[in-house]
Amino acid sequence: MTQDAHDRLLIIDFGSQVTQLIARRLRELNVYCEIHPFNKVDTAFLHAFAPKAVIFSGGPASVFADGAPMPPAGVFDLGVPILGICYGQQVMMHCLGGKVERGHGTAEFGRAYVTPTPTTHPILSGWFDTDDGAGGREQVWMSHGDHVSEIAPGFQVLGTSPNAPFAITANPERHFYAVQFHPEVHHTPKGAQLYENFVRLAGFKGDWTMGAYREEAIRKIREQVGDERVICGLSGGVDSSVAAVLIHEAIGDQLTCVFVDHGLLRLGEAEQVVTMFRDTYNIPLIHADESDLFLGALEGVSDPEVKRKTIGRLFIEVFEKHAKSIGGAKFLAQGTLYPDVIESVSFSGGPSVTIKSHHNVGGLPEKMGMKLVEPLRELFKDEVRALGRELGLPQSFIGRHPFPGPGLAIRCPGEITREKLDILRRADAVYIDQIRKHGLYDEIWQAFAAILPMKTVGVMGDGRTYDYALALRAVTSVDGMTADYYPFTHDFLGETATRIINEVQGVNRVFYDCTSKPPGTIELE
Ligand code: XMP
Repeated sequence: MTQDAHDRLLIIDFGSQVTQLIARRLRELNVYCEIHPFNKVDTAFLHAFAPKAVIFSGGPASVFADGAPMPPAGVFDLGVPILGICYGQQVMMHCLGGKVERGHGTAEFGRAYVTPTPTTHPILSGWFDTDDGAGGREQVWMSHGDHVSEIAPGFQVLGTSPNAPFAITANPERHFYAVQFHPEVHHTPKGAQLYENFVRLAGFKGDWTMGAYREEAIRKIREQVGDERVICGLSGGVDSSVAAVLIHEAIGDQLTCVFVDHGLLRLGEAEQVVTMFRDTYNIPLIHADESDLFLGALEGVSDPEVKRKTIGRLFIEVFEKHAKSIGGAKFLAQGTLYPDVIESVSFSGGPSVTIKSHHNVGGLPEKMGMKLVEPLRELFKDEVRALGRELGLPQSFIGRHPFPGPGLAIRCPGEITREKLDILRRADAVYIDQIRKHGLYDEIWQAFAAILPMKTVGVMGDGRTYDYALALRAVTSVDGMTADYYPFTHDFLGETATRIINEVQGVNRVFYDCTSKPPGTIELE
């Protein structure tokens, strides 16, 4: 089955912080959906997209504001079910003849409880179940200043909360539904059920599966590439690996992978990647050992941004050189994911501050005049993992913690030397081994050691030591945007520090980093 033949749901984004979560909830229901900003969706787009249902997201605006975001003309005449959430509800009522009032003491932020009205409707199937101990009311997550004060003609009220008399409303005849709260967040425990009811009422078959995606992606890659050659920059991370295996399945040896070893990889990492791709998958692979080039250029450099930019620039140069050596590749494969593609709605229009210059191969395609092959563009990270499993990649590989493009360079604050990198590699391996032995690896988003730019005095046996100090970091996170430090037990920390100092010459002190993000970042630089 092709993706174009799937039932498609359109999410019109009005700028909510949590719009992506709507897509997540729908994908979990095997429903194919896309998020598009309200100001990019016009009538022509609506007809071309041909959604089977539409969702209006929440958003920070007020329908009273000048130039308030509005849904596209004609959306209510498509004849498909529509669900409005928070601002989506307000704008729906506003457009269809209801009324919205400004906050004035009726704003609600955070947890609230909705109770049912005598009118029942299958959109609330599984809600207000008096046997579940909630006493017939449901917890929901509210975040609104304005509220609906009069519903549009044809709508009924299905649920109310103290400050939202129209918390859940429906126009059963037209299949329009509108809620004041956010069913997509975990703090609305039955929110997923509401989405399930909505897509069931809209007639979705739930046909968006990884098996279908794989077949369709292979067909599309073949169509796009024909008998041309493709190169793929392999980092050893999950995204580029899944992309490479998928493309190889589609076009075989028309694909060549380039693995740039910048000398900043973890212990045994280069060998693992090369063995897996060359020997297990028989994918043509160039292993570009360019450690002398990178480490030479980084000599004496201690500024984090200069390090990142140096690595980024050299990476592009090296990649380009090897791509040329293959000769005649017209396509460049990248493991771009859906969150990188979603165009965000900007109300302020201002640029955001650069915290770190992230390293990626962006800039390459324009420079090299190549076309892109991006078979993961429609997927979220956990879907990429599911696709990796579908393709038979080992779980040990798919479940690996993220590793940054600039590698150990940003775990070695201050000047980078080969000696420090060697100590860091060995210490990191002991730390990760400890985490695995204690069965904690999969609970942690990312764990690593960093070597600090200082030496401290210690005593070992009867002798004085003057060696490096090491910081251990481990965080939990959902997307890397925010993170909490992982609460290891003191026993674990003590045992790990002892093992590192005993097994790794050059370290005599170990710290554990208890900073969350924000205010810290995950990496040290
Ligand atoms: P920070 O340190 O910004 O990291 O909190 C968030 C996540 O991004 C990873 N990271 C990078 N990944 N290129 C990458 O591919 C980079 O330049 C880069 N810098 C940080 C980091 O490991 C964490 O998962």
